[in-house]
Amino acid sequence: MQGKFITFEGGEGTGKSTHAAMLARHLESLGLGVLLTREPGGSPGAEVIRHVLLSGAAKPFGPEAEAMLFAAARDDHLNCSILPALSAGKWVVCDRFVDSTRVYQGVLGKLDRRLIKALERVSVGTVSPDLTFVLDVPVAVGQERAAKRRAGGSPDRFEAEKTEFHETLRQAYLTLAASEPERCVIVDATATKDDVAKRIWATVNSRLDPAMAPFVFENNLAS
Ligand code: TYD
Repeated sequence: MQGKFITFEGGEGTGKSTHAAMLARHLESLGLGVLLTREPGGSPGAEVIRHVLLSGAAKPFGPEAEAMLFAAARDDHLNCSILPALSAGKWVVCDRFVDSTRVYQGVLGKLDRRLIKALERVSVGTVSPDLTFVLDVPVAVGQERAAKRRAGGSPDRFEAEKTEFHETLRQAYLTLAASEPERCVIVDATATKDDVAKRIWATVNSRLDPAMAPFVFENNLAS
């Protein structure tokens, strides 16, 4: 039995984490086994690497080293959390995955495509999400939301980048999503939270048909 793998992608303040959690709860309410997880992180080893990356401690080593650390974290996350959950028939909902490396390190960090591909080969191999939501909002809206969420706290290594970075990020996600329409769905996330959640649910229903999935009673969702 194999579960389904759904990822959420997008820039800062697009609401990925909120919608990943809402979708996970909705699936769980149908009686499905669900793993809600995130990157970087999602397994004990990957959470340690997350701290190194988001604190900015790895920044002086350059984008190549950062990309290798993201890949190392992903390899651990996949083997320790995602693959076991999918094999147990669970639905895995993940906040960011391989597209984040393609966009942040590949496009914004201007890393050689061959390095990005080689890292994908060693970290994820042939594993690919069944469905990827790319949440899209204008940069000004995303930055305002991210600032509100921080409420006076300091931005992390990536949030601290300039507006131009976030514009390039947005376009890179839109281009990536357009290049893989069978997997990626762009969602206009300027609508209300409920409307965005409805759109996401309608897409999950039409593409993956959760009502037909076998029940897995155990789950890993925090209450
Ligand atoms: P996080 O605090 O999880 O915020 P967000 O809500 O934006 O997901 O920070 C994750 C940061 O790491 C985010 O700025 C994107 C960046 N990132 C990469 O650069 N490459 C990657 O492969 C991943 C997974 C994340």
